Amino acid sequence: MDPVNSAYLDELRAAHFGELVGDLLFRRLCDRYPEHSSKLHELARLEASVGDLLEGVLARHRVEPEPTERVEALTHQLFDDLGDADWDAFLARLRDVVVPFVERFDRLHDAGPAEDRNTLRILRDHERALLRFLDAEIRREDGLQPVERVLAELAEVRFAGRQS
Ligand SMILES: [Fe+2]
Repeated sequence: MDPVNSAYLDELRAAHFGELVGDLLFRRLCDRYPEHSSKLHELARLEASVGDLLEGVLARHRVEPEPTERVEALTHQLFDDLGDADWDAFLARLRDVVVPFVERFDRLHDAGPAEDRNTLRILRDHERALLRFLDAEIRREDGLQPVERVLAELAEVRFAGRQS
């Protein structure tokens, strides 16, 4: 096994935390943007699935996830910060949040230990898929396809995990 440093484990833990917040936030936003709820539901499913995957990796490294109260507190704050932003304003704001994460997960994938490479690739790809979704949605196009591709891959990983 490669030596794993604590900065890497902190990044993993933060990434897992982000997925849990994303899952909860997208589910809550279904009520705020009911006409877009089917898309938000898919994004929540993506975040929850990546969160599950990361949870397994954290457990393997014996790292405790962030407590649920912190997930709920940050989600609540983000939800309130959005105020009465309309769908377009929401997309633009989410895009500003996602862009640095794309860069961060790209770096994490490139620098992470070989044993976690598969998970880190999915983590990287899901954030890129989210950005592509947002860019398409801002152009009034359907951007769910890249999201569905990552979800299909996550289902395969889960299936393979059950078989081994
Ligand atoms: Fe995510």
